[in-house]
Amino acid sequence: MSIITLIKALPKAELHLHIEGSLSPILMWNLAQKHRISMPYNSVEEIEQAYQFSDLQSFLDLYYAGADVLRDEDDFYRLMKDYLDACDRDNIVHAEIMFDPQTHTNRGVGFDVFMPGFLRAIRDVQENRGMSVKLIMSFLRHLTEAAAIETLKNAEPWYDNIHAVGLDSSELDHPPEKFERVFSMAREAGFKLVAHAGEEGPPEYIWQAINLLNVDRIDHGVRCQEDAELMSLIKHRKIPLTVCPLSNLKLCVIEDMTEHNIVDLLNAGLMVTVNSDDPTYFGGFLNDNFIALHNALGLTHSQCAQLVKNSFAASFLTDEEKRTWCNAVDKLLEQTGSPV
Ligand code: ADE
Ligand code: ZN
Repeated sequence: MSIITLIKALPKAELHLHIEGSLSPILMWNLAQKHRISMPYNSVEEIEQAYQFSDLQSFLDLYYAGADVLRDEDDFYRLMKDYLDACDRDNIVHAEIMFDPQTHTNRGVGFDVFMPGFLRAIRDVQENRGMSVKLIMSFLRHLTEAAAIETLKNAEPWYDNIHAVGLDSSELDHPPEKFERVFSMAREAGFKLVAHAGEEGPPEYIWQAINLLNVDRIDHGVRCQEDAELMSLIKHRKIPLTVCPLSNLKLCVIEDMTEHNIVDLLNAGLMVTVNSDDPTYFGGFLNDNFIALHNALGLTHSQCAQLVKNSFAASFLTDEEKRTWCNAVDKLLEQTGSPV
């Protein structure tokens, strides 16, 4: 079986996906028409052409502007439904999906609008397809910790539907230590914890996410390689890194995919996983990320299988669910006679 066929056939988990970053240009266009919102684009093609970024901030400016077309419950249903349909195409059987409440509450769109939309789409796929989904509520780190605490409180009626809390948006000048108290409150409320760190920010931010926020996973974390002591800690504590290759390329974290360090991190024994981050902005969903790694770095069948097994091991599924999916990966490799 060719590696491309294997990538497509393997059941996978995606752990680092911003639902607002899966808004397609066509849906953005249609929702702008529906709500009579004027945009600085005259066509869907013009939206696509605007997706050229020089760094994280240049992307975030477009991403927040794009999210403004999401106004009513049905828009959020459509957004989630589109991503879950893409999961079906890529054989993603489990997804842990981030959403940014403050991107919406700050423009007057409340939890009572977006949560029912998200949950209706999720319920559909859980019933019809057996796919599992967990939601991660992310705080915007360019805003204050007080605003994050208020968001945590406003989310209370929805706690049963939220599995984890995260931290995203502009990394530089917004270190994890700024959010120590709200992360401690979230942990006491029973949430799992993740945080973006070491995407553009220095290894020090990864140290802070681990030591001050007590995160269960690091989102990105690729800059850990600059600090041998940190690498060793991440390895021995088996702290997962949710790496996003096409995102790193599009946001100029690397200049060329051949420079990506995910295979080095994997070979060094770190629990790294492959993810799409904001697929409609970065030119590819999950399988495209695996294929890009294979094309640039010659990702092998066994490396690919290891990354996929890591995606389950690093998830918030139960140990039994993790075992079931990892066994399914092994069985597929055996059946197809894939080299391991
Ligand atoms: N929000 C959406 N995508 C992000 C990324 N790659 N880094 C930080 N915040 C984000
Ligand atoms: Zn991200």
